[in-house]
Formats: sequence, structure tokens, C-alpha cells
Amino acid sequence: MSPRTARPRHYLMCRPAHFTVDYSINPWMDPAKPTDTDTALAQWDELYALFQRLGHTVELIDPLPGMPDMVFAANGATVVDGRVLGARFRYPERTAEGPAYADWFRDRGWQVRDPEQINEGEGDLLVAGDRILAGTGFRTETAAHAEAQSFLGREVVTLRLVDPRYYHLDTALAVLDDDEIMYHPPAFDAESRAVLERLYPDAVLADADAAKVFGLNAVSDGANVILPEAATGLAEQLRDRGFTPIGVDLTELLRAGGAVKCCTLELRR
Ligand code: ARG
Repeated sequence: MSPRTARPRHYLMCRPAHFTVDYSINPWMDPAKPTDTDTALAQWDELYALFQRLGHTVELIDPLPGMPDMVFAANGATVVDGRVLGARFRYPERTAEGPAYADWFRDRGWQVRDPEQINEGEGDLLVAGDRILAGTGFRTETAAHAEAQSFLGREVVTLRLVDPRYYHLDTALAVLDDDEIMYHPPAFDAESRAVLERLYPDAVLADADAAKVFGLNAVSDGANVILPEAATGLAEQLRDRGFTPIGVDLTELLRAGGAVKCCTLELRR
């Protein structure tokens, strides 16, 4: 079994201080079901503390009232080699988050591109070594994949999502290391499955039970893989590959259709 080495990461997160579900833009969101902001905060705090315990640097963006989904920082941008591709959201409920995240970066001296095409940040644009795996079908447009490739300077591989429950790429696929991924094959169309099989013949394949507890909405530092604790079978598969899975409870945030990766935007200098 190959030895695994963690690389310290730099993340951006947003406390769910205004968390609620008062609109529905994915099948997980039911505004009729009450949410509990304190529970969301307590669960999120555990994740925040865990990243720091593992030696990662976490920066925070101020949560804005009236933007309950702002906790899902992964959607706020895509950051590669110090370049920030801003986000442009599909639905009006989240539109204002794009400029809010872009301002955070500009205020700190980062170079930010205001996107021309709809892209929901690392929700659909996952950096895997020298390439970017890019989702489309529900949120991010394929034209945004070309925009990401030219601005970020990495080869972009388009993958089409077909199951509305897995509406962002990061709900169906996670990058474990530069050249290792895990994914749920039925979330993709046949052509994309063929691409994934060719590029990643040794990928960890997640079953339906793992996918539906958002097991793929995970963050890896190359050795530790933080994932929803309910994904016990997937954790076992990761352990067999030499990773250290660490389960966390983010079930309150799952009511909005998000978990570990959704809360975490990686900042790559
Ligand atoms: N309610 C949010 C939405 O539907 C959840 C976003 C989850 N983020 C993610 N990276 N998958 O847009």
C-alpha cells in the first residue's frame, strides 16, 4: 500500500450564521421542513476546528444576512496558481454571492476574473493535479469550462451530470490526490463514465448508499479524507487504499444539499 502524505492546505469557509432553507433550488431543499441554525453552527464549528487540528489554514468570509447558502464557500470561486475565477450563479437566490466572494478576494489583493459564463465555483470545477474536472448538466455551463481552461491555464475535462440529487460535480465525485478520485458512476452520463474509466481506472467507486449521504462531498489533503460520518462503507474503502477517513456530522447542512466539500473552498497560491 502506498504511503500517504498530507499537504497543508489553505481554505476559505463561511460560518452558517444565517443558515436556513427558505427556497428550493435542489431536491434536498424543502422550505416546509424547519432548520436549526444553532445546530448548523455547531456542526460547522466541528469541521472548522478539525481542519485546523490537521494543520490547515482556514480563512473566513463574513456571512451576509439573506444569503443562507453562503455557507457553501466552495461555490464562491475557483482558485488556481493565485488566479481567482469568480462565480456566476444559475439561480437568482444566490446571484449576490458571486460579487460578495469576489470582493473578499479583491480586498486581499488577489487577481479576480468576473466570469462571463455561469459557473458555480468548486461545486463544479474540481482541481485534480494538472487538470480540472468540470461538471455540467444542472448548474455550470459548458461554455464556462472553456472560460476556466483559458483563464486558469489547466486542461478542463467536461463531465455531464444526470441525476438531479447530484447537481454539482462535488456531490458525485471527490479528488483524493493529484491523480486519484472517487465517484458515483450512475450520477454521470455514459460518455462521461467512459472518460472517467479511461482517466482513472483505479478510482474508488461509491455505491448509492454512500452517494445519498453525500459521502462524495469530501475534502482530502492527500492523506486524511474528511467526509460525512454516515458514509461508513466508503470510509472503509478509503481505509483499504491507505487513506485516513474522518467522519463528520453535517446533517443539518445536508437539508440545503451540502456537506463537507461544499463548505470548503481551497485557496491555491
Ligand atoms: N443550496 C445550495 C445550492 O443548491 C447548496 C450548494 C452546495 N454546494 C456544493 N458545492 N455542492 O446551490
